[in-house]
Amino acid sequence: MADKDGNILAKDYGIGIKPPLQTFPVKGHQSAGWGMQRRLSEIFSDDGRTIMLAFDHGYIMGSTAGLERLDLVIPPLMQYADCLMATRGALRTCIPANHRKAVALRCTADTSVLKDDMSFGTVGVDIEDAIRMNASCMAVQCFVGSEGEIDSLRNLSYYVNNGEKYGIPVLGVVAVGKEMERTTRYFSLATRLLAETGAHIIKTYYCENFEQITAACPVPIVIAGGKKIPEKEALEMAYRAVSEGAAGVDMGRNVLQAECPKAMLRAIRMVVHENAKPEEAFKAYELWKKDVK
Ligand code: 5RP
Repeated sequence: MADKDGNILAKDYGIGIKPPLQTFPVKGHQSAGWGMQRRLSEIFSDDGRTIMLAFDHGYIMGSTAGLERLDLVIPPLMQYADCLMATRGALRTCIPANHRKAVALRCTADTSVLKDDMSFGTVGVDIEDAIRMNASCMAVQCFVGSEGEIDSLRNLSYYVNNGEKYGIPVLGVVAVGKEMERTTRYFSLATRLLAETGAHIIKTYYCENFEQITAACPVPIVIAGGKKIPEKEALEMAYRAVSEGAAGVDMGRNVLQAECPKAMLRAIRMVVHENAKPEEAFKAYELWKKDVK
C-alpha cells in the first residue's frame, strides 16, 4: 500500500539539464525497440562485439569430435563466451538454466549431412517455445542459391516476422551446402540478401575481400569457424575478420576440437574484445594450455 503521508518531497528535477544522449553499440539497430535492443545487448558487449560458442552441430552432424558430452564439455567453457549457440534439446538436457549468458537458439530443423542436398529446412522451434526458452536470438539456417532457397526464405521470414512481434532478433546463418562456392561474390550476395530479408545478425564464413562484405551488410556479421584448423591459424582468421569489420565470431570446432578448448576460447577473447594481435593471443594460448593440464 502506498504511503499517503510523511514521504520526502520530490525536488531533484535536474531543471536545465538535457537528457543524456542514448547510443546503442550494435550496428544497424540504433532504432530497434527496447526489447530487441535488450536482447542484442545480451549478445553483444559495449564494444559492439561478441564471442558465440557454437555447439549445435549435433542437429545435422550427430555426435561430433569434441562435442560428444555437452554436459561435461560446455559448462567449464561458458565463462569465456558471451553467447551460447545451441539447439533446444542440448540446452534443456545439458546446460543448467541458471547462467547469465546469451542464448542463440538454433530454431530451424535441417536435414542431416547424409543428404546430398541439405537445403530443404523447415521451421523447428516455434515462436512460443523460443519465448519460453528465453532465447536472446533465433538462429535460422539459410541456403541461398540452392534448390531449397525458397524454403529457407520462408523459414527466415517466419522467424523475422515473429521476432519483430516479440522483440527477439534473428541470426541468419549462411549455409554452404556441399556444392556451394565460398567466394566473395557468393558471401556478399547471401549476407546482404539475409539482412534485407530482415535478419538482425548474420553468420557467415571468412573469405577474401571480407571488408567489402562487412561494409555492405547493414547488420553485424559474425564468422563461423568451420572445420578445425591449427589454433594459430584460427586466431589469425578471427583477427583478420574483426579487423575487417566483423562483430565477432561464432565458433564451434575450432574451440571444441582444440588441444585445450578453454585456453583457445580465452585466446579468442583476447583477439575479439582486447584487439590483441594473433601472435600475442597464441602465446597466451600456449601458456594457458600448460596451466590447464
Ligand atoms: C552450420 C553451423 C554449425 O552448426 C555450427 O554452428 C558451426 O560452427 P563451426 O563451423 O565453427 O564448427 O552454423 O551452419
